[in-house]
Amino acid sequence: MFKIALLPGDGIGVEVAASAVQVIKTVAEHFHTEVEFKECLIGGCSYDAHGTPLTDETIQTCYDSDAVFLGAVGGYKWESLPHNLKPEAALLKLRKSLGLYTNIRPAKIYKPLVDSSSLKKEVLDGVDFVVFRELTGGIYFGEPRGFDTERGFNTMVYSKEEVVRIARMAFKVARERKNKVISVDKANVLEVSQFWRNVVHEVHKDFPDVELNDMYVDNCAMQIVRNPKQFDVILTSNLFGDILSDIAGMITGSLGMLPSASLGSKYALYEPVHGSAPDIAGQNKANPLASISSVAMMFTYSFEMKKAGDLIEEAINKTLDDGYRTVDIMSEGCKLVSTDKMTERVIENFKEIYHKQGLGVFTL
Ligand code: IPM
Ligand code: MG
Repeated sequence: MFKIALLPGDGIGVEVAASAVQVIKTVAEHFHTEVEFKECLIGGCSYDAHGTPLTDETIQTCYDSDAVFLGAVGGYKWESLPHNLKPEAALLKLRKSLGLYTNIRPAKIYKPLVDSSSLKKEVLDGVDFVVFRELTGGIYFGEPRGFDTERGFNTMVYSKEEVVRIARMAFKVARERKNKVISVDKANVLEVSQFWRNVVHEVHKDFPDVELNDMYVDNCAMQIVRNPKQFDVILTSNLFGDILSDIAGMITGSLGMLPSASLGSKYALYEPVHGSAPDIAGQNKANPLASISSVAMMFTYSFEMKKAGDLIEEAINKTLDDGYRTVDIMSEGCKLVSTDKMTERVIENFKEIYHKQGLGVFTL
């Protein structure tokens, strides 16, 4: 029995979280596991209800869970609030409270979508890499920080332990992939980056079979667009990872397709990379695939049910292959569908693939 803390949040977060729940229930049923959801507020909706974007009760529910699913936070309505009350502050506080030091964002090309990218087909074919972004340190959290009318400042700082733990995770995962890590920094300018680089190389001594290279962040941004096939695992700090993962995301066609997992030593949180998209919220138009793909990561990483995760990905692929598209990935000759319809198609395909593979046979 797995306990899932469900935090739909704001805007389209609510709709895509509903899709996630449907998929989780279907998959759990087919793989004979039980799941229990506990739903909580986070972000703007929590601010409206309780005067804070993240309550202790929500954090406690996450502490009591096996996995957290988060939709999205934020919206125009809360943009002028002070920093510590903004919906985004809730996300940062939650990451920190749960110790989610590694953020994994895969950049994978779904074959049927190869034409929706702004890059050429030849450049994209076969692209498959992951960004390992440090999530609870660096300039996002460094002290001192602040601003007045004359000056603004933040601090980019990393401790050895913070670099070691994410580097180890990246090397381990690389071993199960193409065995290549590129560590991204700005060591030509920043001391903190030189330190990052030194530590990564020290950790590498325990993983001599994995190929390690360094790259400056500006060059990396350019290389992702120029020749994304060269990457397998990109290992980088919080701010650089924030930026690089958006670039990586966009080359795959739509931000609406990108899942993420945030892992620590005790807790895990899964969320689509896209935001709350207030302009299309509540209209049953949002693309649920990033959310559903995040569910696949949940089964793989938190529940150790890789087969289930793989089947979800297969179901997504088949749905796209059948020509179903939400508005963000729509192209000529395809069938435009709503959030609900897309979710329903994925679920139907999941069931079909499951039975075709004879998995149902073992259920008697
Ligand atoms: C992300 C987002 C967040 C971040 C914001 C909303 C705080 O851009 O998850 O990439 O910068 O980490
Ligand atoms: Mg971002």
